[in-house]
Amino acid sequence: MCGIVGYLGKSSAANILINGLKRMEYRGYDSAGMAVLNDGIIKTTKKKGKVSELERLVDLSKENSTIGIAHTRWATHGFPNDINAHPHSDQANKITIVHNGIIENYTAIKKKLTLDGYQFKSETDTEVLAVFIGALYERFGDLEYAVRFALSEVDGTFGMLVLSADHPDMLIAARRGSPLLIGIGDDEFVAASDAAAVIQYTKQVIYLNDNEIAIITRDGYHTKTISNEDTISKIEQIEFDLEQIEKGGFEHFMLKEIFEQPETIQNAFRGRLLVDEGDVKLGGLRQIQEQLRSAERIIITACGTSWHAGLVGEYMIEHLANIPVEVEYASEFRYRNPVIKKNDIVLAISQSGETADTMAAVREAKQKGATVLGIVNVVGSSIARYTSAGVYTHAGPEIGVASTKAFTSQLTVLSLIAIMFGRMNTLSKYEGIKIAKELLNIPDKIKKIFESADKIQQIAKQHAKAKNFLYLGRGYNFPVALEGALKLKEISYIHAEGYPAAEMKHGPIALIDENMPVVFIATQDEIYEKIISNIEEVKARKGKIIAIATEGDTRIESVADNVIYIPETLPMLTPILSVIPFQLLAYYTALELDCDIDKPRNLAKSVTVE
Ligand code: F6R
Repeated sequence: MCGIVGYLGKSSAANILINGLKRMEYRGYDSAGMAVLNDGIIKTTKKKGKVSELERLVDLSKENSTIGIAHTRWATHGFPNDINAHPHSDQANKITIVHNGIIENYTAIKKKLTLDGYQFKSETDTEVLAVFIGALYERFGDLEYAVRFALSEVDGTFGMLVLSADHPDMLIAARRGSPLLIGIGDDEFVAASDAAAVIQYTKQVIYLNDNEIAIITRDGYHTKTISNEDTISKIEQIEFDLEQIEKGGFEHFMLKEIFEQPETIQNAFRGRLLVDEGDVKLGGLRQIQEQLRSAERIIITACGTSWHAGLVGEYMIEHLANIPVEVEYASEFRYRNPVIKKNDIVLAISQSGETADTMAAVREAKQKGATVLGIVNVVGSSIARYTSAGVYTHAGPEIGVASTKAFTSQLTVLSLIAIMFGRMNTLSKYEGIKIAKELLNIPDKIKKIFESADKIQQIAKQHAKAKNFLYLGRGYNFPVALEGALKLKEISYIHAEGYPAAEMKHGPIALIDENMPVVFIATQDEIYEKIISNIEEVKARKGKIIAIATEGDTRIESVADNVIYIPETLPMLTPILSVIPFQLLAYYTALELDCDIDKPRNLAKSVTVE
């Protein structure tokens, strides 16, 4: 949610800032802005719309400032327009800031500043913070002190950068609850909310901790807490390469990421399967083996697609390990009073590792004494750092706003965790070997599904004008139905709902007529016959049936209008395969409707606000 980037070094800041914004645009694309400093004057350019709109206003060949900050916005306070776009300045235009997060008590601060005679141009909480810092700087004449003082007074979250007209050789970075890292190059620094904006210049980074600020100068950097205690920051290495955040010949990031899945799934299980023992080795959980062995209940918490992965995880773990599992939306978990017992394990799933609700659920669970694990994709992210232990999914950067490869990697890691708990409890070595061997086959089976991409595109074209879709599945495939519906609505804006197939007759069946495509997951397993009955019910009401079925199933063709085949696998691993046609169906439908697939309206990757 919002991307910020700042530069201090020897090159033209504007170039690096615009480039950084483009790399982070998936974090927000309502408006973009930039401020650079030249001869003691801050020049700010900002514009509603995508980064390309901002770029049009900047003549990069004429920009020679070597310090600046920039922002790409996903609106929280105030409409997306030129005035509300960041950066925001204090009244004297001496101090300007970019900010990701929410200042919760901005109304009270604004009221006080207004009484003192300060005026505001925008409706944003960020401008209030800028004016507040400016007022404190006017009073104390010390920029670092003014920033720390202001931040100690605000409630809420921030990842922010401060540029001051009086300090041409200094940038200040600060964080609480919103990600911020500082790339350390040769005589240059690139601070950003995302490694994607930094990697082109350096792979060496420090991650700021909550309530930490960094004073960056041309000679180096110095970190301390907001309350002025020095801190030591470890330099870490960004783990991915520049090619991984480029489209590599694909029309969209989403399509690239769908087609990366054979490889990303392999990365999720590589080095972790002990096939001959029917077991797994998860290095990130080694230090908490005792707690895992005594687990009496597992609570999985997540949002959106990651929550859907959690639902599949529930079925897997209960099936293999016979341990009760509950799955909770992180946003609900954090605001009720969840009962957490001594031997409960809380498992947070998050691609970004920055989702505010999931992070808050993790804090709540920790506070209540649970052992909290993470299944996270982004290395060094807040959830990864805050959980007691965890397993990285290693899917590489996911840029497309609609999550695809992260989901299948989460399912892969959940299957490993289910085997682990299973072998600690009721799972036999023989069954463990069977699952481990089948996991090794999954990447090739996905490649096989890709052979149906053209057919899926044809099906998408046929149904793209539909106003509503219903997705139905049972057992392991019920969460996949939810995920299929979410993918379609996110990027094509067609209303879609996912249901357990048998629930259809308790209400949704009323919606079915000849205009309603109903997508069934009808793979060959013990509930196949029941699904066929559900399909017949839809057919009797003239619904258009699209079925995902197991290769070799000819019977399905007599009841479905369109069939997409997937290879046979174990029921618990079916979701990793059955979701692939849904990702492609959503993609091709959105393509047919000419939607902005990688940047769907109103959405942003990584929801770092509540
Ligand atoms: C859907 C999607 C979102 C995320 C959700 C959680 O395609 O991307 O629903 O899954 O915002 O995000 P993470 O996994 O980063 O916590």
